Amino acid sequence: MIVVNDIHKSFGDSEILKGISTTFEKGKTNLIIGQSGSGKTVFLKCLLGLFEPEQGIISYDGRDYSSLTGDEKRDLRQEMGMVFQGSALFDSMTVEGNVMFPLEMFTKQSKSEMQERVDIVLKRVNLIDAHNKFPAEISGGMQKRVAIARAIVMNPKYLFCDEPNSGLDPKTAILIDNLIQEITEEYDITTVINTHDMNSVMEIGQKILFLKNGLKEWEGTNKEIFKTDNAAVTDFVYSSELFKKVRQMYIEERN
Ligand SMILES: Nc1ncnc2c1ncn2[C@@H]1O[C@H](COP(=O)(O)OP(=O)(O)OP(=O)(O)O)[C@@H](O)[C@H]1O
Ligand SMILES: [Mg+2]
Repeated sequence: MIVVNDIHKSFGDSEILKGISTTFEKGKTNLIIGQSGSGKTVFLKCLLGLFEPEQGIISYDGRDYSSLTGDEKRDLRQEMGMVFQGSALFDSMTVEGNVMFPLEMFTKQSKSEMQERVDIVLKRVNLIDAHNKFPAEISGGMQKRVAIARAIVMNPKYLFCDEPNSGLDPKTAILIDNLIQEITEEYDITTVINTHDMNSVMEIGQKILFLKNGLKEWEGTNKEIFKTDNAAVTDFVYSSELFKKVRQMYIEERN
């Protein structure tokens, strides 16, 4: 579980995160939504330890990041997996090379141990024939699977994903979302996902944090988000015609 207490993060004179508090539970897919520029990526980078907030506490299963020693911070970072927007695979490495990379960087495992682990995670993301292919030779959906395999190869306690299904068609996007949710439950990971995608909200929004202008505007579940009267949330959620109709149906049902 990650507990966030009153996080502030500024760049120069502009305060981007203005005091966010929330909790992200283990074994759950926690989503962060909000308009472009609301601070989702900055917040995720704070959770990853890439940005250090000026104020506030982020605590990982009881470990307050700011009070850890350098070694403890490094150990904690190795418990984190990440999937960046656009997969961020190394083009010059094969699928296998990409997934093995964190093991080569951070462990002293033998080649055969690493190979065994790579085979397990590639199988877990349903990629069995792609070991020797290069990223350019596989589809966008497969690239995301490779990125997920790489993110979980070190057996992380925490998984952070920034727009993991951007650029995918809606069906493939849902497959990727479901894969992330299954893995989260199976390995009891605390997963935090930034997304724009209302399909993701509906499918895997076990906990949703809605950011607006660097503040927590609302939080709840996917069941609750379609019922809330919070105007900022409904504006965001029902910005598409389809969702406006869904909301209308809810309102009619209620009355
Ligand atoms: N390294 C940085 N230096 C200065 N300002 C930054 C930096 N990173 C982000 N910002 C600013 O912080 C604000 C929030 O950006 P952020 O990337 O977190 O938005 P976002 O919610 O992830 O948007 P999107 O949905 O488009 O990805 C923006 O105004 C951005 O310009
Ligand atoms: Mg972003």
